[in-house]
Amino acid sequence: MRMRRKPWARPELAASPFVIDKPEEFKGRWSEAFADPDQPLYVELGCGKGGFIAQKAFDTPDINFLAVDIKSEVLAVGRRTADKIFAEGGRTVDNLRLTAYNIEHIDNVLCGDDNVQKIYINFCNPWPKPRDFKHRLTHTRQLEKYKLFLHPGCEIVFKTDDDMLFRFTKEYFPEAGYEIVEIIEDLPASHPASAIITEHELKFRSMGLPIHYIRAVLPQKESSL
Ligand SMILES: C[S@@+](CC[C@H](N)C(=O)[O-])C[C@H]1O[C@@H](n2cnc3c(N)ncnc32)[C@H](O)[C@@H]1O
Repeated sequence: MRMRRKPWARPELAASPFVIDKPEEFKGRWSEAFADPDQPLYVELGCGKGGFIAQKAFDTPDINFLAVDIKSEVLAVGRRTADKIFAEGGRTVDNLRLTAYNIEHIDNVLCGDDNVQKIYINFCNPWPKPRDFKHRLTHTRQLEKYKLFLHPGCEIVFKTDDDMLFRFTKEYFPEAGYEIVEIIEDLPASHPASAIITEHELKFRSMGLPIHYIRAVLPQKESSL
């Protein structure tokens, strides 16, 4: 996502109580970052401008949410978006945290003790050149990393407008040991826009473009008996 320089971004992020500056320090103790430590954690990878995760956090106070994006500039917009959604809703929300981090190294930030139950990957970069495939957030190499902190039964929800990424991701999931439990070739054709969609989804829907959807689950381990 290209974005103009925002001199206000870093100071605003630094001043915000719900932005986590050094996420590695929370590895294994993310529950301590939230007002209610016993709630499950849902993570959005590549949150962009943050409208989706902020609205989720507002609507679902019994879940903790962590939004990750590599760009501070983008995250700062996300922080403002969250503020606006919470102000318009007329309620303080303390179940959302934002952090700037490269998801390719997300295993430095999350582990099995962090109670992550769901991952959202919405409209991630398709990386169309073969030499860049490994940077895809749904590449088998990445999906293997997510297994380091996802427990059996937990799920990844993925959306994309990109046909090639969709085709590849259908193979990446089983390759990494996930079971695809739901697949929708053209989401807008069967599902009208909900109140909670991302900035990219809104754009693609308004252009009448197809959006592909996959929900994949990490299967329960087979009994050794
Ligand atoms: C195309 S945008 C989609 C944003 C949002 N999910 C949406 O649907 O509107 C992809 C986002 O992923 C972020 N991103 C790409 N690669 C990343 C990485 N390795 N680590 C963290 N964020 C990444 C980008 O900065 C960008 O904000």
